[in-house]
Amino acid sequence: MAFPASFLDELVQRNPIEEVVGSYVSLTRRGSNMFGLCPFHSEKTASFSVAPDKGIYYCFGCHKGGGVINFVMEVESLDYPDAVRHLAKRAGMTVPEDQHHASTYKRQERLWKLCRDAARYFHTCLSEPVGAEARAYIEKRALSRGTVTRFGLGFAPDSWSGLIDAMAKLGYEKQDLIDAGLAVKGQKGGIYDRFRNRLMFPIIDLRGNVIGFGGRVMDDSTPKYLNSPETIIFNKRKNLFALNVVKKSKQGFIILTEGYMDAIALHQYGFDCAVASLGTSLTEDHANLIAKYTDKVVLTFDGDQAGQNATQRAISILEKTGVQVKVLRMQGAKDPDEFLKKYGADRFRLLLERSENHIEYRLLSLQSQYDLQQDDQRVAFLKAASELVASLNSAVEREIYGARAAEAAGITSDAMKLEVNRAFKRRMAQTRKKEQRQALQPAAQQQPKARSIHYDNIKSAMAEERLLSALVREPALFASLQGLSGGMFSSSLLGRAYDALQSMYLQHLTPNLSALDGASFSSEEMAHLSMVAGKGDGPVNHAAFDDYVSTIRAEFARAQSQQQPDLMAMRERLRQQKGYGG
Ligand code: GTP
Ligand code: MN
Repeated sequence: MAFPASFLDELVQRNPIEEVVGSYVSLTRRGSNMFGLCPFHSEKTASFSVAPDKGIYYCFGCHKGGGVINFVMEVESLDYPDAVRHLAKRAGMTVPEDQHHASTYKRQERLWKLCRDAARYFHTCLSEPVGAEARAYIEKRALSRGTVTRFGLGFAPDSWSGLIDAMAKLGYEKQDLIDAGLAVKGQKGGIYDRFRNRLMFPIIDLRGNVIGFGGRVMDDSTPKYLNSPETIIFNKRKNLFALNVVKKSKQGFIILTEGYMDAIALHQYGFDCAVASLGTSLTEDHANLIAKYTDKVVLTFDGDQAGQNATQRAISILEKTGVQVKVLRMQGAKDPDEFLKKYGADRFRLLLERSENHIEYRLLSLQSQYDLQQDDQRVAFLKAASELVASLNSAVEREIYGARAAEAAGITSDAMKLEVNRAFKRRMAQTRKKEQRQALQPAAQQQPKARSIHYDNIKSAMAEERLLSALVREPALFASLQGLSGGMFSSSLLGRAYDALQSMYLQHLTPNLSALDGASFSSEEMAHLSMVAGKGDGPVNHAAFDDYVSTIRAEFARAQSQQQPDLMAMRERLRQQKGYGG
């Protein structure tokens, strides 16, 4: 959806980036910029910068960046329209909603409200006579009163319309209940409650909205858990159970579990940093979400084959986000809930402290794939293990894990060291070769960091970058750019940004990166643009500025003339084809 440019302009003016960022990060002024600790990755020295005059932020550590709207999107995990609404609220402005989006948002708001009312209803049922069996089950699972309250647990009575009737009294329609996934359409056009005779776990998003439910049977019947279906407010791939509580945790790490019961038990035993996935395997969205709140994750999946596979998958997904991954292994219990009840919190804390970093875990998994009593298998294991150990960046780690692998295979650690060194040298040689190849094409070094952005013409792109940076600092320069359009830029991203900024200028608004339409620019693109804008500083050198313009024009003309022959040839071919046809 597009917001009017004039509205976005005012929104950005009334939400100075240093104030908005300043409410999350403590900033210190250094020259014309301000610096602080990056809220998006963990760091000890400040590499997160805000340029108030340009209205942008950029982190030199994790390369996130953008304008004030992007900042709110990132830090509050909101999509673009919601971030705009958030800032509008902050500045006391009214959002001009377009019809379609306004109605979707209204619909979402209604379903959030319905789910909240449903959660209240389930919670009330728990303390009424109808909830006796559920209370007994809660006692059997040793959930405390505090836990039940904190997670808003409830009970869905064994009835076809208990919830529907209660919600009808509050004014909700059949369609509302169906859209929220709380009721199911019957064959004769009627509807009935989806959740019956189940212990209910409300699922709450980061903003505190109830978005769905998990419901557990209280005996051995199946399915054991029933979850809300996907709805316009419930996306299993993007939400995690209990993250709304965990985001306030001071533990400094997050424990990822497979089950609601595991997460809840961990909280009850004092580990207020446990989340659970919603009955699906971990997605990249989950991993990014987790990485926003922590840089350390401990995996506590079941020990069975399925759990081990899930662990390996989760490791590789989480590693991509740069978080440190550890794996906790339990013995004598199949999941954290069972472990805590059997052995208590102290024993679990010990496990946490000893939890293996993922190299250890991988080494052990590797070990279990070979029969180390047999010579040929042992050789194969050592080969695989030395490759794994050689992939570690620190010499100390290579030493430690090399020794551990040696011990497992029953060879001397010197022999292992030799093997690891050989693998390490091979890796180094490969890396060097790759670097040499890159050095031979120096243009590659100027390529954007983001993989989705690529410059086809470095010479022109550099001029385009500098031109944009100058224009953000001195918008009046647009007056001298008649006839230059984004279509002439070699980089379509930079061209689109140019067109957007120019159109702000022509509408007598302040050309500002922050006010770029977040629907047309991805967050990766915004980060790149903000890095580009941040490159230049101080007054614009006008002679250099003219050079950028002529470079862009010249490169554009050259590209055109190169295309010319192709066009001529194509026209010729078309003419001939026509000739045959006619
Ligand atoms: P308890 O048996 O109550 O201790 O549950 P648990 O948390 O140990 O559950 P389990 O390890 O069996 O399953 C982990 C997660 O998988 C649950 O929290 C659910 O999200 C999901 N799950 C389990 N059983 C089912 C099922 O029958 N259907 C669906 N859709 N999801 C399930
Ligand atoms: Mn369990």
